[in-house]
Amino acid sequence: MRRRQIIQLTLLSLVVAGATFPLAYLVDWLPEDGSIQGKRIDDVILTTVWMSVAIFALVAAVLVYAIVKFRAKPGDMEDGKPVHGHTGLELAWTAIPTVIVVAIAVFSSVVVVKNDELPSDHRVVLVEARQFAWGFEYPELGGLRTGQLVLPIDQPVELQMYSPDVIHAFWVPEWRQKQDVVPGITTVYRITPTKLGKFPIVCTELCGLGHSVMRNQVVVLSQEEFDLWAEKQRADVDAGGDQLGENVFANQGCAGCHVLNAAGATGAVGPDLDIVGPGQDIEQIIESIVNPDAAITEGFSSGIMPRSYAGLPDDQLQAVADYLRTQAGPAE
Ligand code: CUA
Repeated sequence: MRRRQIIQLTLLSLVVAGATFPLAYLVDWLPEDGSIQGKRIDDVILTTVWMSVAIFALVAAVLVYAIVKFRAKPGDMEDGKPVHGHTGLELAWTAIPTVIVVAIAVFSSVVVVKNDELPSDHRVVLVEARQFAWGFEYPELGGLRTGQLVLPIDQPVELQMYSPDVIHAFWVPEWRQKQDVVPGITTVYRITPTKLGKFPIVCTELCGLGHSVMRNQVVVLSQEEFDLWAEKQRADVDAGGDQLGENVFANQGCAGCHVLNAAGATGAVGPDLDIVGPGQDIEQIIESIVNPDAAITEGFSSGIMPRSYAGLPDDQLQAVADYLRTQAGPAE
């Protein structure tokens, strides 16, 4: 009798596990991981899911077995037999979960500590999170600020993150790691990308009306491509003038919202710079960049343009304003 019950329960467990397994493993719940740290986090997740599938199968099997086997016969109004507990069983169901939870905690702690390790040959990029945009600054490129995060593959990087307003959170789904960006302190995010391509950066802390649009992109390049990119950025900063202006215009993502024929920009969210630009002096242009709501172009409302450009270094601000003063105008 005992033996038959055990066999029935085991078979039931296998059926439940067989049904749960494809749901847990064959569905792509997460995008393919793209970093060393993300791989470790996936290992923890997969181990935990394995254990959960096994425990769920066991519990569901006992539940189904009890429902079928011990259901009341028609017309049976008797109370069930009183049960007085089972010391062995109670010890087991206290001890086993304790061991499992401690094991997961130890595994997770090891991964967290490992993911926090930083090789001495890492690079540093500063990340500014503000309502509602991301900005990046490269100390190694003369403090160049960009509107997009560009990194070489297989190189460890430390992102030093700060916020001038409220709490935001930096997340790249493909990298798994997530980190809050908190006003008043600098938080760090250490990552070694292992996959080439463009991945979304998402703010995962409700930070105000524009929270849902506070997105950006990280571009992971090969070492050669990154060196070329870095060299061009450095040369543009050194060259100053129109070269730097053009670079800032491209890097800050201005083309996403504005038309500027000279830069091949066709964005339609904000005013057409070839129309509103001509005739403005450099102070007016700078004012419109750092304080976009000071003078609103007819047909547009305030608050559309992020205020983050106010933080551009003076030389980059001057350069891009001068670039716009000389380049904006009707197409020839
Ligand atoms: Cu920043 Cu949500």
